[in-house]
Amino acid sequence: MHITLRQMQVFDVVASKLNYTRASEELHLSQPAVSMQIKQLERSVGINLFEKVGKKVTLTEAGRELHHYTRQIQNLLGEATEVLEALKGVKRGHLSLSVASTANYFATNLLANFKRQYPETTFNLDVTNRKTLLSQLDNNETDIVVMGRPPKEAELIAEPFMENPLVVIAPNSHPLRESTLLAFDDLQNETFVVRELGSGTRIAMEQFFTENGMELKTGMEMNSNEAIKQAVEAGLGLGIVSIHTLSLELAANKLCLLDVEGFPVLRHWYLVHRADKRLSSIMIAFKKFVLTEASELLELAAALQYKSLK
Ligand code: PGA
Repeated sequence: MHITLRQMQVFDVVASKLNYTRASEELHLSQPAVSMQIKQLERSVGINLFEKVGKKVTLTEAGRELHHYTRQIQNLLGEATEVLEALKGVKRGHLSLSVASTANYFATNLLANFKRQYPETTFNLDVTNRKTLLSQLDNNETDIVVMGRPPKEAELIAEPFMENPLVVIAPNSHPLRESTLLAFDDLQNETFVVRELGSGTRIAMEQFFTENGMELKTGMEMNSNEAIKQAVEAGLGLGIVSIHTLSLELAANKLCLLDVEGFPVLRHWYLVHRADKRLSSIMIAFKKFVLTEASELLELAAALQYKSLK
């Protein structure tokens, strides 16, 4: 079996896009050239890697297996390039970053600040929930992740860099708005709008209810913080969200925080990567930036925000 690196790269892009037109655009090749590479690869491995159902291109079982390996090979090649660049003392490179949807409220600022110091860095940023982040780390599909505390049993390096206070939000017209030190029992009759399963915020919220022997009455489940805030504003229930998601609502005075015992529930943001990851020079610089300078900046912003919301 003779597979060339180029065939593998072409296969990797087609398998990710499942669309020959888009793959050829990304590869800067003509569509027939891409099809030809795939045909040659299928001939070399002696099995079909794609099948067509109507106009839809899908991977065969063999294709899915091979894609698993080409992903890893591509990642390793990227890593090797970065390590060699680091040895040459080059302060540029590419950073593949994934952040929890809730962390995205500050992650773009973080990147902008970092880019000012390292203008030649390029990024791709994936914004997704905790469950997907853990699977990306597991499959080595990302360099660095910003998320809540990862499970201890995973082979990861996780360093906390900032507090993540979770607060109870209500519409501005809520009757308990002015009350102070509400007992959690006072909320027994309230319905909560919750994030989707797989969200770190959701897990923390359920944990809080269980630890306090309370039943979580969930009216609705939504897969973004924006949807939760809009639902709360519309009067569909209360919400529990990270303080980091609330800056616009703070400015526009659209939501209020309820002063409930046990809140804010204090979580932390962690910078996480695989324990076996070879860190490129740009990853090392980014880590240092987040764990020192950026965390101070962000802590301050969060503290100010929390104070003014109260
Ligand atoms: P999430 O936040 O709810 O957007 O997944 C991550 C976390 O708090 O762990």
